[in-house]
Amino acid sequence: MSKSSRIAGFYRLSPEERLRLVKEFAGLSDEEVEILRSTGALKLEQANRMIENVVGTAELPLGIAVNFLINGRDYLVPMAIEEPSVVAAASNAARMARERGGFTASSDEPLMIGQVQLTDVGDPLEAKEAILSSKEGILRVANEQDPTLVRLGGGAKGLEVRMLGTDEGEMLVVHLLVDVRDAMGANAVNAMCEAVAPLLEELTGGRAYLRIISNLATSRLARAEAVFAKEVLGGEEVVDGIVKAYALAAADPYRCATHNKGIMNGIVAVALATGNDTRALEAGAHAYAAMGGSYKPLTTWRKTGEGDLWGRIELPLAVGIVGGATASNPVARVCLKILGVKSARELAEVMAAVGLAQNLAALRALVAEGIRRGHMKLHARNLAIMAGATGELIDRVAEQMVKEGRISFDRAREVLEGLLRGG
Ligand code: MEV
Repeated sequence: MSKSSRIAGFYRLSPEERLRLVKEFAGLSDEEVEILRSTGALKLEQANRMIENVVGTAELPLGIAVNFLINGRDYLVPMAIEEPSVVAAASNAARMARERGGFTASSDEPLMIGQVQLTDVGDPLEAKEAILSSKEGILRVANEQDPTLVRLGGGAKGLEVRMLGTDEGEMLVVHLLVDVRDAMGANAVNAMCEAVAPLLEELTGGRAYLRIISNLATSRLARAEAVFAKEVLGGEEVVDGIVKAYALAAADPYRCATHNKGIMNGIVAVALATGNDTRALEAGAHAYAAMGGSYKPLTTWRKTGEGDLWGRIELPLAVGIVGGATASNPVARVCLKILGVKSARELAEVMAAVGLAQNLAALRALVAEGIRRGHMKLHARNLAIMAGATGELIDRVAEQMVKEGRISFDRAREVLEGLLRGG
């Protein structure tokens, strides 16, 4: 009889009871069950309070990226990631940035956007007017949801109304702009959107459907920039190569996706270490990269007048240092202590710097590989000429030596003789 995944009341069981069922279903050994059962800092019972149907915890290596100097302050940066080389690459790029003073980073106020979708609005223009003229009242209702946030200086601060033509007719979308202080903010913003929806319906005669945060946090951007000295990078040729690599990403979405993926290697690793929502960050970053109508790199690279490399990153970074998993996961709490950040904005600035560093490291490695190959080919051609090759034989001898990985004068002579004998 085939096994069924229909298990009524699975959620009501304890993690141990669920483990027993999963063990049976999948034929796990005692050792395999033991692997699932949390052995780390995040205990099974804590994990069970974080999500549903818990049977264990899944671990990732946690590394520390060193050398980060951001706005004149030194940081050790915890990164949780399964991919080798990411932590080393970030540390390496951060070391190179120190030569010219490290990273300069900045960020916007922690303003998140909450959306309320209004359909079946009779006269959209009139409805828009009605909403805008009741702005103060709407913000008051929103702020009643979170007195603590308001006490901390946050809360709903602004309101925008957009008219959108959609496949289902014209709609209004109301944006609540909420200062979420040191939280990621989804819970506060969602609660406010839900609270103001009936009032918006009343004001417009429309119907409120979606009431939810937008992950495209364009009012919560973080930026970082740095100059990398050409000598530290490996010469002006490397600088030129990185600028060319960037040009490709700017012109081609196929390359750009990988370019931005490399950036997110760093940012997501810090987000995971600090208990932040990595999917929200990915969604925001890639949507922001496509804001202009085509998908673009999140970084910019240019050669300076001195021949050094200047780079800049800008992206929405909706991260928190209070609430959510940042509070419930003990590993995240320790990671935040290692970072020593005092605000969500400071965390976003560190993450922007890590993203820029990660991109630099990836581009440098990729470019250097190309340069190495280029040099090898050039060297092989010179040897072929020295060995007596002329015309198209030069390239044929060189290519064979590069392919074999045997580049020497003797080998050039052998290959040339072989080709000449072969006709
Ligand atoms: C691999 O995880 C990330 C890279 O592919 C990024 C890039 O190509 O820029 C190395």
